[in-house]
Amino acid sequence: MGTRILGTGSYLPPKTVANGDLAKALDTSDEWIFSHTGIHSRHVAEEGETTSTMAAKAARSAMEAAGVSPEEIGFIVLATSTPDYATFPSTACLVQGILGCANAGAFDLQAACAGFVYALEMARGWLKLNPGRKALAIGAECLTRILDWTDRSSCILFGDGAGAVVLGDDGQGDGEGPKARTILGADGSGRHFIQRTGGTMTSLPLDPETGIPQAPKPFLPHLSLMGHEVFAFAVKTMSRITEELCALYDEKPAALDRVFAHQANGRIIEACARRMKLPLGKFWLNLQETANTSAASIPISLDQAVRAGELKDGMKVVLVGFGAGLSFGGTYMTWPAL
Ligand code: UT7
Repeated sequence: MGTRILGTGSYLPPKTVANGDLAKALDTSDEWIFSHTGIHSRHVAEEGETTSTMAAKAARSAMEAAGVSPEEIGFIVLATSTPDYATFPSTACLVQGILGCANAGAFDLQAACAGFVYALEMARGWLKLNPGRKALAIGAECLTRILDWTDRSSCILFGDGAGAVVLGDDGQGDGEGPKARTILGADGSGRHFIQRTGGTMTSLPLDPETGIPQAPKPFLPHLSLMGHEVFAFAVKTMSRITEELCALYDEKPAALDRVFAHQANGRIIEACARRMKLPLGKFWLNLQETANTSAASIPISLDQAVRAGELKDGMKVVLVGFGAGLSFGGTYMTWPAL
């Protein structure tokens, strides 16, 4: 049986914040932000909205598109760096509960902005071991809750949202084995480039008498990034992975119909296009309105392309992302076969 993406969905919170709104609170301007990033505005979760509620909306929409009921889902993998709870319970478990996927295992995956590529690969692998079942791969983020809104070099970049795909067998069967190929990678030497502290790396002072760790002072750690370093890494890595994926099929990137690259900065995508000598029109670009939604950016793009009728069966497609870790990954697929 061939594994397929059976349906896509996405959700963006209705509230938007334009660059001009940021300029009222920060020493910045629409002109600077747009010319340096390609971003005009971003969606921001309001009270009551969280990563899990956005993820559930995207997933429900993907299940409707696929014609799949919650009970049919056997596996939920949710990529996020902004879980509802600091660590547990997982956001995927919350989504499982909201959707009523009574027969599904559920877990979170953290590979930052590359997370959706990893999640898709996990879901694809699970389906190969459980043929005939259905899986949900989700990327969802509520990044606006972990930003330092006084840091103009980082807070202007990000937005909230969620995207999801339902995977399963289409019942046709092609008998030729997997169509898609994936490359996943990491480079921990770049761990300082994008960070959010606040984990167990910070040791607690021990009470000298009892040896019991003392309660930490409450604080809300923010995302920080080294923009130049990430920029250079992103251009080099996304184009290299795309070229390597194409080489697995004895092809050049020119053979691709569409590239869904992580939407971090329009200039990063333009530089990738130049490097691979691909027309920019082959890249899906939506960060003008969505900004960087990290793990959600690729599945949101996919859903938009599907709903716009721009992603047709048989198209050669690469999904490629990079992010904190550093982590990166790409999948070459002939839409919608995996
Ligand atoms: O998905 C993974 C996470 N994403 C990233 O890590 C993003 C990757 N990096 C980038 O997108 C770009 O490096 C940035 C958009 C973050 C920065 O763009 P840049 O063209 O590399 O600008 P820069 O950092 O070289 O800053 C140039 C100037 C600086 O002023 P001085 O030192 O030249 O006087 C900054 O202080 O622009 C200033 N600046 C700003 N000015 C107005 C930085 N941010 C802003 C701002 N508004 N928002």
